[in-house]
Amino acid sequence: MLILGIDTSCDDTSAAVVEDGRKIVSNIVSSQSEIHTKYGGIVPELASRRHIEMILPVVEEALRLAAVTLSDLSAIAVCYGPGLIGSLLVGCSFAKAVCYSRDIPLVAVNHLEGHLLSPFLEEHAPDFPFISLIVSGGHTSLYVAEDYGNYTLLGRTRDDAAGEAYDKVSKLMGLGYPGGPLIDRLAREGNPGAISFPRAYLPETYDFSFSGLKTAVRNYVKTEVQHTGERIPGMEPGVLSIERLRDIAASFQAAVVDVLVRKTKWAVKKKKIGRVTLSGGVSANRVLRENMKKMGEELKVQVFIPPVSLCTDNAAMIAAAGFHRFLKNEFAGPDLNPKAYLSL
Ligand code: KG4
Ligand code: ZN
Repeated sequence: MLILGIDTSCDDTSAAVVEDGRKIVSNIVSSQSEIHTKYGGIVPELASRRHIEMILPVVEEALRLAAVTLSDLSAIAVCYGPGLIGSLLVGCSFAKAVCYSRDIPLVAVNHLEGHLLSPFLEEHAPDFPFISLIVSGGHTSLYVAEDYGNYTLLGRTRDDAAGEAYDKVSKLMGLGYPGGPLIDRLAREGNPGAISFPRAYLPETYDFSFSGLKTAVRNYVKTEVQHTGERIPGMEPGVLSIERLRDIAASFQAAVVDVLVRKTKWAVKKKKIGRVTLSGGVSANRVLRENMKKMGEELKVQVFIPPVSLCTDNAAMIAAAGFHRFLKNEFAGPDLNPKAYLSL
């Protein structure tokens, strides 16, 4: 059974063809980061305009690469939230129009369910139940996944998502957008123990908080710039030296990763579940991946982390999640409306 997935929830236009919810036949992602990088974050109006330009060529390319036509599809699965409303509208309107005109069943998919089920696109997939940590630009949440469609929220961030903290810290350090990959790269050469940034462990809860950490980095950068008065040729006045930026990046990253791993570890122990999945854009992070795997070895639990291309936003995960909704006959109609806020 072939399902075409569509995701336009944020700043990537993506379409994918997936067979039986498991096998990726094609997966096209058209990134907009070039457009948004100079603003240090996503400009929603620019994002939706770009989606309008890209949706048709991206879907056509996904079908072409998969060597299929619309008539070969069992359904179209579209992400209807959470996300940027203008961006979501483009994918939803497109999917509704195609499904209506070609009489193809339409399935509405929650973006978070897509991330949660993305490890199933790998050959070695988890059995239920498992602990799922979703870490993205908009979310940082821990779930127990009992079965397809049966997820219990354990905790979530009380303020910034981990990816949001990466993006904001990147902006205040004078780097670009998205901040995650830039800080990840910069941190490679830095000393994670150079600066002791605060970690909000929020004991006895599964919740997270990253805004205090972000403020601590902001204050540190401000004080450092004043003290050193550094001037780097070719860079804005007051920008710190590359060595200092590397240490800040590595120390910030260590604080984020410590909290994410520690909370997951606690969930594994409390819930006595021997499988963990990690997904969402931040799970592309090198140190987070390494430390999560180490945690798995230490606790003797299985850790499932999709390849980087499936961690960040993609439509293959939407098609995979859509497959299970399809099997339960959960279809959407032309009255489907996208939702900026939607829980799992
Ligand atoms: O899942 P995603 O593509 O979109 C949302 O659903 O939000 O996640 C995007 C987020 C951005 O905040 C980006 O900075 C972060 O994932 N990210 C990373 C890395 N790659 C992407 N964060 C840390 N390290 C990375 N290597
Ligand atoms: Zn996402």
